[in-house]
Amino acid sequence: MSNDWFETVAIAQERAKKRLPRSVYGAIIGGAEAGISMRDNVSSFDELGFRPVTAGQSGERSMDTTIMGQHASMPIMISPTGVQAVHPDGEVAVARAAAARGIPMGLSSFGSKPIEDVCAECSQVFFQIYWAGDKDSMIGRLERARAAGAVGVILTLDWSFSHGRDWGSPAIPQSIDLKTALSHAPDVLTRPQWLLDWARRGELPDLGVPNYTFGDRPVPGFFEAYGEWMGTPPPSWEDVAWLREQWGGEFMVKGVGRADEARRAVDAGATAISVSNHGGNNIDGTPAPIRVLPEVADAVSGQIQILMDSGIRRGSDVAKALALGADAVMIGRAYLWGLAANGQAGVENVLDVLRGGLDSTLLGLGKSAASELSPDDVLIPDDFSPPRLSA
Ligand SMILES: Cc1cc2nc3c(=O)[nH]c(=O)nc-3n(C[C@H](O)[C@H](O)[C@H](O)COP(=O)(O)O)c2cc1C
Repeated sequence: MSNDWFETVAIAQERAKKRLPRSVYGAIIGGAEAGISMRDNVSSFDELGFRPVTAGQSGERSMDTTIMGQHASMPIMISPTGVQAVHPDGEVAVARAAAARGIPMGLSSFGSKPIEDVCAECSQVFFQIYWAGDKDSMIGRLERARAAGAVGVILTLDWSFSHGRDWGSPAIPQSIDLKTALSHAPDVLTRPQWLLDWARRGELPDLGVPNYTFGDRPVPGFFEAYGEWMGTPPPSWEDVAWLREQWGGEFMVKGVGRADEARRAVDAGATAISVSNHGGNNIDGTPAPIRVLPEVADAVSGQIQILMDSGIRRGSDVAKALALGADAVMIGRAYLWGLAANGQAGVENVLDVLRGGLDSTLLGLGKSAASELSPDDVLIPDDFSPPRLSA
């Protein structure tokens, strides 16, 4: 086993911190305002305990499942993220790792690699879009994704354009030319390994968003696309139903945080939801998704596939989410730390760590399959979840 191997996601994050320029590391940390939601996403898992068994455990434990029609070797999927500048291979490396470990992947419309290149490496890519631009351009993006081989769509609806952080936002340039590169030199030159990775390819990070466009339209810069999205009025549930109809296949609404909204997603024809607060990057004070998962599961379980993301760092977190009603989880920063630390192998490493952790938890709880997990396996404090809405 090489020295690049890490045994927990926390160690991958430490390595990423050492390897990435401060601004790139800061962009992954992200968060909003005081960071209350971002911290709660992780610490809420610590409030949950387990009820282990002592003898009679199963010698074999199965984790295989189906996520939005796709076979998955475990109940984990790659959540879409814009990974500009983390690693020169970006989402192509992530796609190779997802394919190698047999799990589906979400690809962001703000990602750094063209969807055609990503689908060439992984046959289970879900294309993520925001409600941005006019309806024709949204259809144009979806048709391009369909032609590239995307197997479904993720519509992310929880972004609230919250840009301030008490610890300061990283400086992200409009584009990187030699002048900008030199102005970032003090930050970048302290991270020679990161710089070397890019230099080996004769490239600088490109802040274009190639999946935001279609046909012969030019690739916009990140801020150009972001500006258009900010200026687009948010969709109604009728709009969501319309987009789902246009796509016609597997369709996830990502960013659900309440039971009533989960029901609206079912009514709009979505085939999956992700209970998510975007990793704590939207309204600060939004509870950790694991806290509202039981309420959402009670409302829509069996009618739609329920995924959960935000705060997953360990295999035992995956087990807790499944026990509280998720069919599967998505991971964000966890694989970005792996990608930063060691490229494709680092992402595979993270997936292996999560798989090992889930397997240990299943063993300790006496389960022969991840699907057997239930709330009875978890110790839940009385005040863990917010009061339910009466509607
Ligand atoms: C750097 C970064 C970029 C992200 N970009 C997107 C994106 O483009 N589209 C999207 O739907 N979610 C995006 N997300 C949110 C993730 O898909 C996911 O919801 C979140 O990271 C889950 O929380 P976790 O990082 O604690 O696992 C991003 C998250 C991070 C950290």
